[in-house]
Amino acid sequence: MSTKNGKKLRSQEWWGQPNYESFTRRAWMRSEGFSSDFFENKPVIGICNSWSEFNNCNAHLRTVAEAVKRGVLAAGGFPLEFPTISLGEVYMKPTTMLYRNLMAMDVEECIRAYPMDGVVLLCGCDKTTPAQLMGAASADVPAIVVPGGPMLSGQWRDRKLGSGTDGRKLFDLFRTGRVSEEEWCEIECGISRSAGHCTVMGTASTMTSLAEALGMTLTGSANIPAPDSRRLTIAEMSGRRAVELALEGVTPSQIMTRKAIENAITVDMAIGGSTNAVVHLIAIAGRLGIDLNLDDFDAISRRTPYVANVKPSGEFLMEDFYYAGGLPVVMKEILPLLHGDAMTVTGRSMRENVESAVCHRREVIRTAAEPLHAEGGTVVLYGNLAPDGAVIKQTAASPALLQHRGPAYVFENYEQMRAQIDSADLPVTKDTVLVMKNCGPKGAPGFPEWGHIPMPKVLLEQGVPDMVRISDARMSGTSFGTVVLHAAPESALGGALAVVQNGDEVQLDVAGRQIELLVPAEEIHRRLESFTPAAPKYDRGYGRMFLEHVTQANLGCDFDFLRKV
Ligand code: FES
Repeated sequence: MSTKNGKKLRSQEWWGQPNYESFTRRAWMRSEGFSSDFFENKPVIGICNSWSEFNNCNAHLRTVAEAVKRGVLAAGGFPLEFPTISLGEVYMKPTTMLYRNLMAMDVEECIRAYPMDGVVLLCGCDKTTPAQLMGAASADVPAIVVPGGPMLSGQWRDRKLGSGTDGRKLFDLFRTGRVSEEEWCEIECGISRSAGHCTVMGTASTMTSLAEALGMTLTGSANIPAPDSRRLTIAEMSGRRAVELALEGVTPSQIMTRKAIENAITVDMAIGGSTNAVVHLIAIAGRLGIDLNLDDFDAISRRTPYVANVKPSGEFLMEDFYYAGGLPVVMKEILPLLHGDAMTVTGRSMRENVESAVCHRREVIRTAAEPLHAEGGTVVLYGNLAPDGAVIKQTAASPALLQHRGPAYVFENYEQMRAQIDSADLPVTKDTVLVMKNCGPKGAPGFPEWGHIPMPKVLLEQGVPDMVRISDARMSGTSFGTVVLHAAPESALGGALAVVQNGDEVQLDVAGRQIELLVPAEEIHRRLESFTPAAPKYDRGYGRMFLEHVTQANLGCDFDFLRKV
């Protein structure tokens, strides 16, 4: 069998040759009980599964894989499931971000090394989606994404709970004694009620939505709740489509073009997506040789209305978003801002995919004419604290703090912050700007989600709900608040964040896109002259490779040798 372009199937290189090696591979395939009719001369579709019991968000993906297999078989293909490393967001220490590039390498090399004519990528939890997209982009074998979908909405008594977003708010009440031990235990039992990824527009929902916006999924695939039978139906359909893509020879680099990446950024802004999407999209683009930078995000943010009323920026949860019509409705609303002619794995253009979408609940998905915010969720800041850029999610921040000037209170690292944040004598007021150092890609290391510095207990007790916080860390997509993130270059490399001292004035001006340390340049220079970088935290293994090759946040934190030059 050959592709529609007349090329031999890639898998034939492995078992379609008149040599001993092909004999061995066919014989060894028979050892799994497959007859030759089953696998010979058929497109082989790999099912790249990030299932793991250490990753609750992806714990149902074996079932999803079975549905994909049905579809592949029905379309005349031969499905073979294979595992890769999985990145369970809440379990991996120090952070899953340390391992995103490792997973991307695992995915890429498995696709390249095995006899696959196409691959179905099963993902869900935060880093599993960008890792698979990065790996698939580099391998460039026909691919389609099937996200696992969000979990059911959390439920506590008569109240719906969004993972992370409501969890953190309730934890602040627990810390200050306004939620009892017994209530806290009930919340633990009800906030996470099924497999699937987090229930708000956190990083997982953002990245699976962006996989759809990139054109890498079937239409409507991203937001179906994990336990909904339609999740399995679309998995089956995706398996069928994977066979067609393999025969058509349509590769990820033909789908994830510059236009598709710009579509993904535009959708990210319209859904109030996670700030992590900036890092991941730059990394994906880097794998494809597409030059993408922070200014592209800010330019698109300025012209894109925010319309998806989903936590943490809005009020509703991912289940509500899906029932309201989900991502296709958002994309239809902002279609004039998208490249409607971008091709997708459906075989149709983006415009054709979404133009018949219907909104069933306008309070969940607003029109572009009456958005929740005139601009997109994430904006890019520059200034002497971040000459290479920083980001803030303005839609999840307090409007009154978007223009703010105040004295810094500095934590030299995460451990110091954790040790001090609940101190009754922490010298902070509602005007203080909390600054945390050494939490970036190399400094932490691994670029953890530590940027959402908890509100100091002393301020919570005064009823202060938010304050300006700045770091070179990331933040969970489920988090909220006036939090400046990804300051680059990071403090561990001698970025100006490294020399902020208690009492220095800091100015945040979101409208002006500025984050400034109001200290004379000569003084900053003088302080930097005595800056000495800390010793590397790893001297062997993967950690050492990470430290030697990871790029800064504004370059996507991929390894320098994995970017396409
Ligand atoms: Fe996996 Fe939130 S912990 S998506």
